[in-house]
Amino acid sequence: MRSGRPEHRANKGKFQRAGCVISVTAGDGSPPYIRGMAATRKNDRNAWIQGPPAQCGVIPQASGFPWRLVLLGAPGVGKGTQADLLNQQLHACHLSTGDVFRASSKDSEGGQTPAIREALAYMRRGELVPDSTVWEMVRERSGCLQCAGGFILDGFPRTLPQAALLHQLMESEGLPLTAVVNYQLPPHEIVKRLGGRRTCEKCKAVFHVTERPPKVADRCDQCDGKLFQREDDWPESVTVRLEAYEQSTAPLIAFYRNLGLLVEIAATGSPEEICANTITSLQTRRIVNVGYDLLREF
Ligand code: AP5
Repeated sequence: MRSGRPEHRANKGKFQRAGCVISVTAGDGSPPYIRGMAATRKNDRNAWIQGPPAQCGVIPQASGFPWRLVLLGAPGVGKGTQADLLNQQLHACHLSTGDVFRASSKDSEGGQTPAIREALAYMRRGELVPDSTVWEMVRERSGCLQCAGGFILDGFPRTLPQAALLHQLMESEGLPLTAVVNYQLPPHEIVKRLGGRRTCEKCKAVFHVTERPPKVADRCDQCDGKLFQREDDWPESVTVRLEAYEQSTAPLIAFYRNLGLLVEIAATGSPEEICANTITSLQTRRIVNVGYDLLREF
């Protein structure tokens, strides 16, 4: 009998290989993703950040069943922080559209296309960049979405048209999303997180002045780069960003719930606790899906 779920049909072999991954249990009783903690290395994301023809210097490890995740949630909920932690555990590459725009802002004015100059102006105001600009940028980096190491999309899609385009692209490639994780946090906590955020200008590591302070004030723990406050974290932009989220991005929750992909996670507690909860939910979901597929085959 064939699976009634198209994503399972397209990836039958991958799901079966995934079964091998899941069946590995640690001798000490801890799940495999915890045991993998020591054996992690960071992808450099060159191909994503710079776009073609740039190549990644550190190629993500190919996985028998790569994770293809989308992270949803309001600005400041902790998506970037989680993407970084998930990357260390699952090895899928952290692909942030905001990081691509911020990297472009470092180019000289003459080196920026008119679309990028316009996009940066939208960003500074806290508004969403037009769908056509975002899609053009993602489409030219679509090789990253086919990466054998998988991906963790952070900040994309952000509107229903973007979600529909991503869905079409992944369907046409026979590479369905594994899951969409929606992080939830009360608005007053979000405002607190954004107000205290500091970012490394060199490696983009994220800190918080009180919640995740760097060891040395204003210096990055990882590369000693200088920490700065993002322009769109100033209060006037934060209000606009939260409104844009409610209006344009929150409807994606229902979109992905209808596709059966949504995983809801409370973004409270330490980042490590939230990451562990996320991975437990994702692993449970994967086991259920593999079991479902095998049962249908039987
Ligand atoms: P983008 O860069 O995607 O920003 P965002 O979605 O607004 O999200 P943030 O990066 O602000 O927050 P986050 O959820 O990643 O939180 P973080 O982990 O840093 O987009 C920026 C702009 O680009 C947009 O406004 C738009 O203009 C444009 N853009 C990008 N993509 C677009 C698209 N697809 N379409 C249209 N426009 C687009 O955490 C926040 C703080 O909290 C940090 O200080 C962190 O240390 C702290 N923290 C994290 N977790 C915890 C915790 N558990 N406890 C305590 N503190 C915590």
